[in-house]
Amino acid sequence: MDQENAEIAETGTPSALSAGRIIVGIDLGTCRTAVMSEKGTKLLARSVVGYPKDIISEKVVGSEPLFGDEAVEKRNFLDLCYPLADGVIREASERDYQAAYQLLGHVVDLAKAGKESEVCGIIGVPARASIMNKELLLSIAKQFMAKALVVSEPFMVAYELNKLSNCIVVDIGAGTVDICCMKGTVPIPDDQVTFLKGGDFIDERLSLAITRRYPGVQMTEAVACSIKEKHAFVGESAAKVVVTLRDEGKPAEFDVTEDIRSVCESIVPDICEHLETLITKFNPEDQELALKNIVLAGGGSRIRGLAAMIAEQMHEYGEIKVTAVSDPEYVGCSGALKLATEIPLDMWGQIGVMFGADD
Ligand SMILES: Nc1ncnc2c1ncn2[C@@H]1O[C@H](COP(=O)(O)OP(=O)(O)OP(=O)(O)O)[C@@H](O)[C@H]1O
Ligand SMILES: [Mg+2]
Repeated sequence: MDQENAEIAETGTPSALSAGRIIVGIDLGTCRTAVMSEKGTKLLARSVVGYPKDIISEKVVGSEPLFGDEAVEKRNFLDLCYPLADGVIREASERDYQAAYQLLGHVVDLAKAGKESEVCGIIGVPARASIMNKELLLSIAKQFMAKALVVSEPFMVAYELNKLSNCIVVDIGAGTVDICCMKGTVPIPDDQVTFLKGGDFIDERLSLAITRRYPGVQMTEAVACSIKEKHAFVGESAAKVVVTLRDEGKPAEFDVTEDIRSVCESIVPDICEHLETLITKFNPEDQELALKNIVLAGGGSRIRGLAAMIAEQMHEYGEIKVTAVSDPEYVGCSGALKLATEIPLDMWGQIGVMFGADD
């Protein structure tokens, strides 16, 4: 794997990397972070850190930051900081950096489960995350981990599914959609694309569409997100989607079927266009197999009818088979852990460019 696909940071000496070590896989996502360890830890948390708003909030929740679902539950007391945007660590402010630092530290602590161990692991990032951002992530990881390797998210999915050849993985996350061709080796940058039409894009568009159709309704992206997570579909709908929303404070029922359909369908042309470009990267004799082996992952793969619609839109390419993974929450993280345990630690450098080894 070249520098764009994987990088490694190492701070521990070989003697330090011995007993009491835990190997982990981490999927650090815009929306949620999953961590799994070889010791059986398996956790999913919202990628959010909450800081008490003022002295009164502090009396209720304490002065320490809160993480994940607990932070969301107690949001009235907290300033919430989502340290990742578009799949990568925000670089806008010191607060973002601090939140990313504390979130990763928290995740590593959870993986340690109270034991005094050193942690080595593989962390997933968007397929085409910039070198700068990977370095930023690794510089944070170094504070908590003895060894960390960064790999592209769809590659982790392919590794978990053992689909290493003649396969295309489409990982539809919150911040990014990552598409990656698997050709039997670690994918190179040219075999991957990342674009920003994931779940956050859908939430924003859905919120706008519903506000436009029903101007009195109080709509937020969070409300749109929960409607989407319950009802997202493309193509024919089995039934009308009617949801209860607040119209100038009063609850009322609204039909949002068309808005959900059109917004969810708006990500399909980009996915198909990129698939059409990427398929040409396979040898012509492998293209037929690869087109029968398209895998959808990430939370967006739960959009009903999506696999069938992608296959239908690409019918000119012959027989197309698109499937969705059964466990989009953990499949990437599980692949990272599998990679981390199957490749000996001293060979991680062969999967990616090593830096920080002399630190
Ligand atoms: N049933 C569903 N239908 C449509 N979208 C869903 C569904 N369930 C979850 N999602 C969306 O999937 C996204 C989260 O997916 P995932 O956990 O793969 O993202 P992530 O890894 O945090 O993001 P990224 O990979 O971009 O950093 C969110 O936008 C969420 O609202
Ligand atoms: Mg993801």
